[in-house]
Amino acid sequence: MNLYVGSDHAGYRLKEEILAAGFIGTDLRLVDCGTFDEGSVDYPDIAFAVAERVKADSGFGILICGTGLGMSIAANKVNGIRAALCSEPLSARLAREHNDANILVLGARMIGTLLALETVKAFVSGMFTGGRHEKRIEKIASIEIMMKREE
Ligand code: RB5
Repeated sequence: MNLYVGSDHAGYRLKEEILAAGFIGTDLRLVDCGTFDEGSVDYPDIAFAVAERVKADSGFGILICGTGLGMSIAANKVNGIRAALCSEPLSARLAREHNDANILVLGARMIGTLLALETVKAFVSGMFTGGRHEKRIEKIASIEIMMKREE
């Protein structure tokens, strides 16, 4: 399973920490989608690049910007993407279990590295529990279909 990781300049250092952590013991292959240095970039470009890849191969993603807000707003524009901005492990686990989130968003200026890594661990080890949550995810998908028809 591929885990696509992307950030803007504000999230660059945290992205590098996450890539360095490697998540040994999981079968995730981390794919670096940029940015590749601390030069200024626009978060929607990276959000779109990661979201498209997550969607294309039904994988997972991590997006990081300063607050996490821009990345989550942008990524959630892509049909099929459920991007969850989390700042601690419990929300990250529940984002997988209840919301079947396929992208975790982090705000590098909002949380420290250790908490961010714990949050990533909770996300990658969480499993969608289905059941009563299934029909709610289906309703999100039907909103996307409805909006497409109205275009
Ligand atoms: C970049 O300065 C900052 O605006 C961006 O990283 C993010 O926080 C936007 O939501």
